[in-house]
Amino acid sequence: MSDTRDWHDLVVTFDSDGLDVLAGAASAAIESLRRPTSGPRSDWTPAALHHLVRSLEICPDDGVPLNTVLTELGSVVWSHGVVPSDPACVAHLHPPTLVPAVVTELAIAATNQSMDSWDQSPAATEVELHLMSWLADLIGFPDIGSGVMTSGGTASNVLAITLARSWAAKKIGVDVLKSGLPQEAASWRILCSDQAHFSVQRAAAQLGLGRDAVLTVETTSLGSMDVAALDRVLDQMSRTGLVPIAIVATAGTTDLGAVDPLSEIAERARRHDTWFHVDAAVAGAFLLSERLAPALSGIEHADSVTVDFHKLWWQPFNASALVIREAERFELLRVRSNYLDRGDELDGVVNLVGRSLDTSRRFDAAKVVATLRTLGRLALAEMLEHLVDLSRYAGMKIEAHPLLELVASPTSVTCAFSAPGFSDDDLRHVQQRLLARGEMILGRTRIKDRAALKFTFMNPLSSIDDVDRLVHLVANELGTL
Ligand SMILES: Cc1ncc(COP(=O)(O)O)c(C=O)c1O
Repeated sequence: MSDTRDWHDLVVTFDSDGLDVLAGAASAAIESLRRPTSGPRSDWTPAALHHLVRSLEICPDDGVPLNTVLTELGSVVWSHGVVPSDPACVAHLHPPTLVPAVVTELAIAATNQSMDSWDQSPAATEVELHLMSWLADLIGFPDIGSGVMTSGGTASNVLAITLARSWAAKKIGVDVLKSGLPQEAASWRILCSDQAHFSVQRAAAQLGLGRDAVLTVETTSLGSMDVAALDRVLDQMSRTGLVPIAIVATAGTTDLGAVDPLSEIAERARRHDTWFHVDAAVAGAFLLSERLAPALSGIEHADSVTVDFHKLWWQPFNASALVIREAERFELLRVRSNYLDRGDELDGVVNLVGRSLDTSRRFDAAKVVATLRTLGRLALAEMLEHLVDLSRYAGMKIEAHPLLELVASPTSVTCAFSAPGFSDDDLRHVQQRLLARGEMILGRTRIKDRAALKFTFMNPLSSIDDVDRLVHLVANELGTL
């Protein structure tokens, strides 16, 4: 038998030197967020990074001191990573993180609650439920609304569409979890706009409905769902015997930040007795701001809502939530197990595994709660409003620029643009060269079959001077072609 005292400092204990090292690493990491950055990434090539990382021996026979390992990670990984807090890191919905969340991450790891069953996370389960009730209330759901944390917007959307699928089956008396898809499923369709996130197609594919079961509805020039086009699709479906099992609206599309007309879509969903899901992964945070929240009017009619805390709530990955209007509907995906969620527990016990596609799961709700309590709603709302203003400012700069053209006026934190007279390949060169030199992580996408570049403003510390510099850098790069 080994002497377990040898392991005392490796398993986290609160009086150990090990924890001092961890605390030191945490404060160094936070300090590095405060320092001015020297660009959004180093200019190392993929091949050079491959060799550098492969020089690390993953599992030596004898361990290396933690301080040394952390220093190595610093020089090998962090210094060649992307820097989301750099003002030129503007490609994706990839935020810098807030200090309360970063610090709480350490406590989450150290205390290691597991959110699948109450006996692995008693108070933590209550915290997640409390946060979900708060979010349900913010959305405008009735008191019976609740939710569950997931690993991201994709997972939340897949979970929502899984519920919608089971709901449709239940309505025709089929327990889809037990007997699989009924014959009627061949006529089931999921509707979303042509700007919706690809996770809708992914859900249809994974649920055995197939990607072709997703019908995309045309969008307006601003990128939001065209309700007249939705009506045409629904009419056509009625005539051909197809059944809508879910209408997915997007509140904040990935490229244009557009919000679909939620109230009008809700009315169609009600009329067709179909599940109404709102993917508010991007703009869900608008609910915190009195100025921005009206854009999401109608979200309260949804059956389910995706909110990504690891986007405009500045949380470290992973942190998302699926909130539903009636918590009871989570029964639609519950699978009991002999060892975990038996159904014979103490009164009041909630095993969150019954709501989730995961089993073991992190206590990510803790960092969200720590952030909300530390900063307060008003500070978060102000940061958000600043980013929306920045993207509007970028829109004005681009509109006024002789080389550039806006795809649509910005309404959220993204600003997509093209360059008339330049080819798709030219835009690719601009984006790839700026990336290769480590000067800018610029977004590149296709919107309605047209190549576009994109700024995504996620850093509340960015200023209009930063925007001026970004526009100048892109225009300069185009000028060199
Ligand atoms: C509108 C929308 N929904 C869902 C997602 C997926 O989110 P995640 O990357 O957290 O899975 C994204 C990602 O950008 C998104 O923009």
